[in-house]
Amino acid sequence: MGEGQTKIVLTADGSHSVRSSRFGVDYHSVHGAVQESQHVFIKMGLQFFLEKNPAQLRILEMGFGTGLNALLVSLIAERRPDIQFFYQSFEQYPLSSEVIDGLNYPAVLQVPPSKLESLHEAKWEEPTMLSDNFSFAKYQTEFPRKSTALIAEEWADIIFYDAFAPASQPELWGPEAMKECYRLLSDGGQLVTYCAKGQFKRDLKSVGFRVECPAGPPGKREMTRGLKD
Ligand SMILES: C[S@@+](CC[C@H](N)C(=O)[O-])C[C@H]1O[C@@H](n2cnc3c(N)ncnc32)[C@H](O)[C@@H]1O
Repeated sequence: MGEGQTKIVLTADGSHSVRSSRFGVDYHSVHGAVQESQHVFIKMGLQFFLEKNPAQLRILEMGFGTGLNALLVSLIAERRPDIQFFYQSFEQYPLSSEVIDGLNYPAVLQVPPSKLESLHEAKWEEPTMLSDNFSFAKYQTEFPRKSTALIAEEWADIIFYDAFAPASQPELWGPEAMKECYRLLSDGGQLVTYCAKGQFKRDLKSVGFRVECPAGPPGKREMTRGLKD
């Protein structure tokens, strides 16, 4: 099956997700895409760092997809001109413009469509200043095989780990991938993800992470936070 059959689906909070024909799964929770991203990556992830009022924040995302997480961070950057945001994201299989143009995130979040468009129109492999305090780079490449050459050791304050679930992509949730995430995080850094599988959490621990299990988004009891102390 190919990218051509990938299509938009509606989730319970009224926001769109995408059904991947390649992997046979959706990009977000059926209970709500925006709700899930806001909870897992912003509230239970980025918020901790925002409260420390840092001069800069470096965010690394595994799985750019629809650009929803990057959009949410770019909107936070508008409200926090005191922080320089650096956002880098990996995406092996970019979505087609037909799918991207149909996404309702700007309407749901009540922001101009240009906010999402600018993320998708940004050149691949080229860091771009999308505003005075939001630097954005996306790499059309395979994580973790190619990340070593692109991102410096200990670059990230936080990793948004948003691969498809272990049932679809087991290789992205095992010790090798987690070892690479540990290498990419700075001391005091965190990885956050929606996944709460036992084996995944054991693998996080085995490569050095301290593991926490905050409450998950609606429809999910728990999520996972890996800390590099
Ligand atoms: C769960 S979806 C991402 C959701 C995305 N953050 C969003 O809000 O739309 C997983 C994404 O990871 C991408 N992907 C899968 N395997 C990958 C790999 N090895 N390296 C980079 N990206 C990958 C998929 O193409 C897909 O866009």
